[in-house]
Amino acid sequence: MGDLVLAIETSCDETAAAVVEGRAIRSNVVASQAQLHSVYGGVVPEVAARHHLTTVNAVVDRALDDAGVGLDQVDRIAVTRRPGLIGALLVGVATAKALAYAAGKPLVMVDHLHGHVAACWLEPVALDPPFVALTASGGHTRLDLVDDYAAPQLLGQTIDDAAGEAIDKGARLLGIPYPGGPGLEALAREGDATAFEFPVGLRSRGPGGLDFSYAGVKTALLYATRELGENGVAERRADLAASYQQAIVRPLVDRLMRAADDSGVPAVSIGGGVAANGLLRAQVEGAAAERGLRVAIPDRALCTDNAAMIAAAAAFTLSIPWPDFVGEDAMATAPPGGIAA
Ligand code: KG4
Ligand code: ZN
Repeated sequence: MGDLVLAIETSCDETAAAVVEGRAIRSNVVASQAQLHSVYGGVVPEVAARHHLTTVNAVVDRALDDAGVGLDQVDRIAVTRRPGLIGALLVGVATAKALAYAAGKPLVMVDHLHGHVAACWLEPVALDPPFVALTASGGHTRLDLVDDYAAPQLLGQTIDDAAGEAIDKGARLLGIPYPGGPGLEALAREGDATAFEFPVGLRSRGPGGLDFSYAGVKTALLYATRELGENGVAERRADLAASYQQAIVRPLVDRLMRAADDSGVPAVSIGGGVAANGLLRAQVEGAAAERGLRVAIPDRALCTDNAAMIAAAAAFTLSIPWPDFVGEDAMATAPPGGIAA
């Protein structure tokens, strides 16, 4: 029997818990608050924290039940410590500390982005290093060289908005409710991606020319909608969505492939909520096949926020023995650079 980990994730608007044994997912429970926040057009931090508080115990119980294990059988408890909404993170960290303290288990404090990268370590993808990982979520967009899951190395990142943030803001301009990603993808399917020419971000910036920028494309969409006016936008919504989605996905694929070429790795992976996007998945698959690269694309449910990925990262993170973790805390931001906690 492998290492049995109970993991908890509450960094944003999903209350999640999972039980993972070695590389195998035994249970993966996600209670999304998205509906709750959509009336406000985005996540309201205080609402998120309060909702985590009322939901987290039931989600943890469910994860243990689904896995058919008791807390006493778990080897370690892992939790997202950063980055994210501080009130939301605190609920997960306090819950994990209390459970670990009561059950006499070690605690593992995990970085959320480390989780997104480690998602492809899990079966059935089960990717082994070396590879280049693209992580694109609501708050982050970055490329890491992964020689070792314990220490991904930053190759490039966004200098302004994250890809998911650009997607959500663009979707909002087109009248799509929060979270915009799935709605934008559905609308884009009915449109022509070549109808509008949106800027595709930085041509080349950062040490390896691997940084991203999404402020320009968002502004371009805003100007296009102003120019079209209300009726024009209503008529061209699908074309706008398709062109905008393509402008966001293009640099993600280009930079990932350039990073793979430069570092000579045999494989690439994608992760984070934006990696649930069908166009990104298809274009990464196509570009990787052209180069003879292996491509690791986790199930959509392992790309958007979940706790199984936190358990995966915990396999490469130091355990804090009972009861030395009582002073551990959540952090809203991560130190620059590395994502391994
Ligand atoms: O990783 P994630 O679930 O949460 C954060 O860590 O931020 O990522 C959320 C982001 C949101 O911006 C959401 O709109 C985007 O992922 N997203 C998508 C899709 N599903 C979720 N973007 C494009 N296409 C999708 N199908
Ligand atoms: Zn995330």
